[in-house]
Amino acid sequence: MTAAGNPIHRSFELAAKRCEDLTPLVYRRLFREHPEAESMFRSEGADLVKGSMLALTIDAILDLAGDRSGHFRMIACELQSHEAYGTPRDLFAAFFGAIAATLRDILDTEWSWETERAWRRLLVEIETIVTQQ
Ligand code: HEM
Repeated sequence: MTAAGNPIHRSFELAAKRCEDLTPLVYRRLFREHPEAESMFRSEGADLVKGSMLALTIDAILDLAGDRSGHFRMIACELQSHEAYGTPRDLFAAFFGAIAATLRDILDTEWSWETERAWRRLLVEIETIVTQQ
């Protein structure tokens, strides 16, 4: 499927045209909805970790929604390392929801029913990976 025909890929492309950096928006939303997540990040150097965590999560999402060449497997791997960081599984899964909701806000009227459906399906699949791991 081409990027233009893939609603998940397209949603990131459209967001990139409107917003230079998703990082502050995604974490603001995450910490608003899950305040307990904020103190899990170290106080020094957290911005680098947050930016890199988001970038790698987006890589995994694009791969999971696309040709599944391998990056999507990072979700299961990181689930293990996050147990060590003390991140509960439901919070881990909530990060994906925060990304989707941020894109929905940015896209506004360009967030189509097709995009909504594709994201809902993907979030259900991620939830399955996270709970069945
Ligand atoms: C709300 C949910 C999450 C929380 C609270 C969380 C928390 C953390 C924390 C505290 C660290 C840094 C550990 C350190 O200080 O070295 C970290 C790093 C990381 N997280 Fe998460 N995480 C969450 C969700 C995710 C998800 C869903 C993924 C990807 C599927 C992910 C991928 C990563 C990666 C790749 C790193 C290493 C970043 C780097 O240093 O390059 N995280 N996470």
